[in-house]
Amino acid sequence: MTQEIEKTGEKPSRRTVLVSALVALVLSILANGYFYSLEGARGVYVWHPLLALKVLLFMGLGPISLAIVALPLEKLAKKLAMRVMRWLSFVGSILVGLISIAILAFLIVVPRTGSLEPARLNLINPSQGILAQGARSEAAFSAAESPESQEAAPIALSPLDRPLLRLAFSSDPHWGADTANATARTQILEEIAARRPDAFFMLGDTVETGNSATQWNLALSDLEALIPAVPLRLLLGNHDALFGGQYLYRKAFYPKGFSSDSGSPYYWSIDAGSATIVAVDLPWGTEMFGARQRTWLEKTLAAADPRRPLIVVSHSYFYASGYDDPTFDTPWYDHYQNIPALVPLFEKYGVDLVISGHNHYQELLAHNGVTYAIIGSMGGIPDPEPSYRSPYSQWMKVAGYGWLDVDVLPGRLALTFRSETGEARQSATIEY
Ligand SMILES: [Fe+2]
Repeated sequence: MTQEIEKTGEKPSRRTVLVSALVALVLSILANGYFYSLEGARGVYVWHPLLALKVLLFMGLGPISLAIVALPLEKLAKKLAMRVMRWLSFVGSILVGLISIAILAFLIVVPRTGSLEPARLNLINPSQGILAQGARSEAAFSAAESPESQEAAPIALSPLDRPLLRLAFSSDPHWGADTANATARTQILEEIAARRPDAFFMLGDTVETGNSATQWNLALSDLEALIPAVPLRLLLGNHDALFGGQYLYRKAFYPKGFSSDSGSPYYWSIDAGSATIVAVDLPWGTEMFGARQRTWLEKTLAAADPRRPLIVVSHSYFYASGYDDPTFDTPWYDHYQNIPALVPLFEKYGVDLVISGHNHYQELLAHNGVTYAIIGSMGGIPDPEPSYRSPYSQWMKVAGYGWLDVDVLPGRLALTFRSETGEARQSATIEY
């Protein structure tokens, strides 16, 4: 009977329908698999669960399901139902195939269009650390102690007040976002350049949409104009990672020749001479925090010199005040993924300070002997008044821009949360 139908030239044939449905299924698996493999993509599913994403994830099952439903319909005397199913499956296959190819092209081609040169900046290569900066401070410190250098040092700081290392941290400048405050961003960079820290860390969301070379170029031209000499290291934020942005991030800020102790450009530890700085890859939450990174982190924290302060940096935060996302109802506060996955390690291995971005507030928190700093926005639109206050919050600044200075002193860390114009908003001291 079925063969008769095929002989009568029923179009599209069973074979055509099944083969095209299988091709569509394979293409949709490839498109979704490639997207899922990209930095930060998994977090999009969790934190921005758009209906469109779910449709894209399961679209490959549509045509093949219709093709299977059409099979028993071949036995019916009237062929209309079978014909309708076959055509629906066939047209669906073409649509799913085209959408899958478009997604793959979008993810692969868009980040690679437009030119982007490696940054002409004083980038910190994680494997080389910032020992030279720390050593320079220590050398100046020793020189200032010698009698002949006393004349050259008009302010005689006591050794306990003289920083061994001066670090600056900022996050979330969001170059390319219409809502970002370019004036605040420029002011912060000018202030940091004037202070000449030993190292400056930008903790992510450098750009609004990571796959746009135009936006990375905007960031580069400002950074090259304003802080060409400041030793700089960036982290990858959730916005930087969007739709294949990791390619442009690496091209500009982690060029060939750079390497890290972890082997990853996204998480590493830096020997900063007077401090150990450990970066973890948490663009949204723990979606990229797999067994490999976890093992590396535990080993790194366990091996850190206990005489030096241990500072962890990340894009997404741990303890934080915040609000429920009005669109997706996701909680932008006390991070339900990051806290259980990493905080026990921080407490076990004596991490002194954890510095993060992601939320556009400035906040100081402390819990079980670990201090947490959320360093505020370097231009990204300020977050709304928080509806939730973390029980571990000690101080908070809403609706402002700024950054955080951390001075490493003998036996203590001095934290200063600053406004965009450099005024100290809040200070804190942590003993290590
Ligand atoms: Fe951000």
